[in-house]
Amino acid sequence: SITTEEFRPSYHFTPASGWMNDPNGLVYLDGEYHLFYQHYPDSTVWGPMHWGHAVSTDLINWEPLPVALYPDSLGYIFSGSAVFDADNSSGLGTAENPPLVAIFTYHNAEEANTSSDTFQNQAIAFSLDKGRTWEKYEGNPVLPNPGIRDFRDPKVSQITNPDGTNSWIMTLAVLDQINFYSSTDLKTWNLLSEFGKTIGAHGGVWECPDLLPFKTPLGKDKWVLLVSINPGGPQNGSATQYFIGDFENGQFTPDDTMIRWLDYGPDNYAGVTWSNLPTDQNRTLFIGWMSNWLYANKVPTKAWRSATTVPRELSLFDVDGTLLLKSAPAKELEKLRSEEYKMSQESSALPSEAVELYAEVDSDTFSITFSNEVGEKLVITKENSLVSIDRRNAGKNDFQRDFAAIHSAPMSWEAKEIRIFMDASSIELFVNNGELVMTSILFPTSPWKSVEISENLDSVKIFNLKK
Ligand code: FRU
Repeated sequence: SITTEEFRPSYHFTPASGWMNDPNGLVYLDGEYHLFYQHYPDSTVWGPMHWGHAVSTDLINWEPLPVALYPDSLGYIFSGSAVFDADNSSGLGTAENPPLVAIFTYHNAEEANTSSDTFQNQAIAFSLDKGRTWEKYEGNPVLPNPGIRDFRDPKVSQITNPDGTNSWIMTLAVLDQINFYSSTDLKTWNLLSEFGKTIGAHGGVWECPDLLPFKTPLGKDKWVLLVSINPGGPQNGSATQYFIGDFENGQFTPDDTMIRWLDYGPDNYAGVTWSNLPTDQNRTLFIGWMSNWLYANKVPTKAWRSATTVPRELSLFDVDGTLLLKSAPAKELEKLRSEEYKMSQESSALPSEAVELYAEVDSDTFSITFSNEVGEKLVITKENSLVSIDRRNAGKNDFQRDFAAIHSAPMSWEAKEIRIFMDASSIELFVNNGELVMTSILFPTSPWKSVEISENLDSVKIFNLKK
């Protein structure tokens, strides 16, 4: 579909109008990927949080659905997750029609303005019609606050115990650490363990965790714990760190004390993964909020604020004996490729605002410059083991003082190929198909019209991306 709205992405999800932040309740059911999200429908700045809702059968085309959860007397509906309760362990559905269960945080905004510390509590809601309508559980909250102001963002996953039984595990952000809880019915939760007080990045509050099982390149089982942190990221403001280790007997034990970042750009926050994906596909699918709390409320879009990242597939890879997390663009994105342009010269006109650029890297260094008719430019380089995106002169940037910046990421190993996804107001750079990722939003006042590439890039292809 063609849109003429300034800065509106064409293939990234955005709400038609109003404010959006974190993706919530990512769950797959009967051929549909559900995307819920932190939403304030009445304004383009953050406010009383609802869960907005959209579904997709291909992770590209999103059908907007009505708001799924409205705030009520217990509070705003903050971030959380959703699971398919196939065995009806909660009793909220029936054996014939088991429920989808959403697990979220109630944030009581009035109470938050008092000296009370107990205004964030975990609660559940259920749907018996594939997420179209939701009912809040009458026994909420299911996990009351023990007296800690930051107590939120439950991510629930199902694990199989050594004895073959299943448990629900809740991974919860608690101020500057993670608490794990277990349950057999999603209604009663017991504390298993606490993690993180003295490890990892602590420049801000911990938020929106996720606990993920993986196989290493050597075939061993490993667990990854994603933890978003605001502020205190590798650039200014918010970002997502992760830990690699084991999850056994209800406890997460990291392999080492290294600080690792999921994405070195400034604009990928609060991302989490889909639950209940078909097991035969064996994929870990992630989507993030493409903004940063530093300026999310100020970016120069009009009817709406914020987009999600492209969907990404996470896996582990090894660099000189160190395990790291790779975020590859989901294979569904290849369906967006329409016309292909093979570049032979060192510069080329761009077919549209929505393009993918692919190139092989020759000697571990490269430089790519996008420019437009009003002299704005966006420069992407690798030099001296640093990958950088320079958005200082890439369009509107006077809405917040930190926005105009060069963002750099260390990459000690060799860059062999790059993929760049451009849309009307973002760039996502994947080096070696996601071994290093940088996501950045930008607001060019005229569309990018041409791209210039350095000589050490080969086999360059530009795809016009169309839904
Ligand atoms: C992360 C976050 C969450 C919270 C939500 C509120 O961006 O601060 O911790 O649940 O946003 O909208």
